Amino acid sequence: MTATTPPTPRHSRSGSGNTAPSQESLRSTVSTVIQATRLTLKEAGIEEAPLEGEVLVRHVAGIDRASLYSDPDRAFSYAEARQLATLVARRCKREPLPYILGHWEFYGLDYIVNPAVLIPRPETETLVEEALIFALPMAQGNRPITIADVGTGSGCVAISLAKRLPHATVVATDISPDALEIAWQNIERHDVANQVRLHEGDLLSSYDGKLDLIISNPPYIPDGEIPGLQPEVALHEPSAALGGGPDGLSIIRRLMEQGSELLAPNGALMIEFNPPQSSVLLSEAHSLWPNAECRVVKDLAGLDRVLVVELEGQASA
Ligand SMILES: C[S@@+](CC[C@H](N)C(=O)[O-])C[C@H]1O[C@@H](n2cnc3c(N)ncnc32)[C@H](O)[C@@H]1O
Repeated sequence: MTATTPPTPRHSRSGSGNTAPSQESLRSTVSTVIQATRLTLKEAGIEEAPLEGEVLVRHVAGIDRASLYSDPDRAFSYAEARQLATLVARRCKREPLPYILGHWEFYGLDYIVNPAVLIPRPETETLVEEALIFALPMAQGNRPITIADVGTGSGCVAISLAKRLPHATVVATDISPDALEIAWQNIERHDVANQVRLHEGDLLSSYDGKLDLIISNPPYIPDGEIPGLQPEVALHEPSAALGGGPDGLSIIRRLMEQGSELLAPNGALMIEFNPPQSSVLLSEAHSLWPNAECRVVKDLAGLDRVLVVELEGQASA
């Protein structure tokens, strides 16, 4: 089967004894179509073929997992098979599943995504959790706090924080107007337009107040490594979301410089990074903030992932 061939459902062959199959025996069901789709994806080299096959079929059929398990013999129509064939062909060309589905889950909420925005990653949930550990006590007593999410993309980090910190204002910046359009759709979808303000521009250059927390998942892949990434990433995700210059740290360094001017006295800066950058980044943070607490937090895979700089208790210069 080629990448562009619709997955061929295996038909049930309940023996009628006739040579010509009856209409009933030709009927495709969601479960037979899932099997065929998994096979097509596997043959195209998709690692998560079993899961993705099911997700794509359920997406087209408009059913959740519970419905699939309670009614695996639900009929799968010809129109649905045609629609599925188009989506499977896209996936076989290594377009990421979230772009095909048009949405993806992050930290318990569902986000609209398209190729203008990075697909939210599980490791970025570590960034959000660290931010909440810092900001929840600060927000107690309904004290208003101001957060900047730099390079907001889909808005997933800004919205996750706004939902859990009702008294926070989040300034969400991005250099890409197309990304900000998606962020805006997600802000409206999750009903946080009263808390999240979007700014188009380079990092925090358009911001001139003080910030309690600066948080960012910036582009941090060394430019030379991008062509060697999985095709899903290298060919389909926005290049502005990936490349961080020759050593991957160009944007992070500029953001740390800006942060040193904009952080409030008890503020914090949290930046996601590429694990091999850990020791360089930590030492640069110590040089920039010699009196602050600078540390690195690991993600759920046990990899160094988030730089945390907390100014609290820092001796005044
Ligand atoms: C790695 S993505 C992160 C998106 C989102 N925050 C997330 O975690 O899924 C980085 C984002 O930074 C934006 N970006 C790149 N360079 C920028 C710059 N100089 N100023 C502001 N945003 C920038 C990109 O457009 C992209 O949306």
